[in-house]
Amino acid sequence: WWTPAQIIEDQISRVREQVGDRHVLLGLSGGVDSSVVAALLHKAIGDQLTCVFVDNGLLRKDEGEQVMETFARHMGVKVIRVDAEELFLTKLAGEADPEAKRKIIGNTFIDVFDAEAAKIEGVDFLAQGTIYPDVIESAAAKTGKAHVIKSHHNVGGLPETMKLTLVEPLRELFKDEVRKLGVELGLPYDMVYRHPFPGPGLGVRILGEVKKEYADILREADAIFIEELHKADWYHKTSQAFAVFLPVKSVGVVGDARRYEWVIALRAVETIDFMTARWAHLPYELLETVSNRIINEISGVSRVTYDVSSKPPATIEWE
Ligand code: XMP
Repeated sequence: WWTPAQIIEDQISRVREQVGDRHVLLGLSGGVDSSVVAALLHKAIGDQLTCVFVDNGLLRKDEGEQVMETFARHMGVKVIRVDAEELFLTKLAGEADPEAKRKIIGNTFIDVFDAEAAKIEGVDFLAQGTIYPDVIESAAAKTGKAHVIKSHHNVGGLPETMKLTLVEPLRELFKDEVRKLGVELGLPYDMVYRHPFPGPGLGVRILGEVKKEYADILREADAIFIEELHKADWYHKTSQAFAVFLPVKSVGVVGDARRYEWVIALRAVETIDFMTARWAHLPYELLETVSNRIINEISGVSRVTYDVSSKPPATIEWE
């Protein structure tokens, strides 16, 4: 049985052996896996690592800032931040189909990442936060055992000309082991133990067409929900919790006037494996606080609902 410290030492020497004095590129998403790879590689090879962080405009509130704060400013990792919000929103305009949206977001990510990668000279390796369950999943996909594999935004296709060799230091590890490495490497606890966030981000939490106005409202609502979950000590009792933007207008009254405004749905689930899930029985007081804050603090929202559907048949995400 290996301790996190031993795994780190082992991986550091393996990476150094594989990479030598050459350069490695990493797509940093802010998620646990790529974050742990960034911290690990930084420790192993320092400045020979360059990270590219793509802000697609569909991230949670302050997420881009937090990534830059943790890695660039705090740890001294070389991170290139690409602000691609406009590009993603332009590509998504007019598209309401969930799987088509996923494809657009995934493909645009690859385009942006490739374009950035092409600007960096002398890169020989591409690091990825592949963990053991990903290895199993893609093996299952190849043999046709997996029925529906959703299109993830992991780096899929680099330009033929780049011919990069993969560096995947987490390939043999499970999620809980990766988290322990993250803590051992000094990453903030909140980053390491954050709920999972889908690759397409808020893109699949805005039902139908994605618009900047919707994303901005959703980001605020989600931040309020998560903040109150933390305050009430419920964040870590749920496996995943988030807000969803419903592009329908519902009536509200302010003074004597009737206003027709957007609806926010809240979703919180408890699950072990994310294959089945139970809706979290959050205290009414907590839901009340969240609902009041969202309606009072965010203009354009007149109604908040709580999702009481279990998986199956309802999936965790709304799209
Ligand atoms: P569902 O909605 O299928 O979600 O019950 C199960 C888990 O998968 C995440 N999820 C995604 N992750 N790209 C991702 O990287 C996606 O397109 C995607 N769709 C769902 C979801 O957040 C949950 O943790």
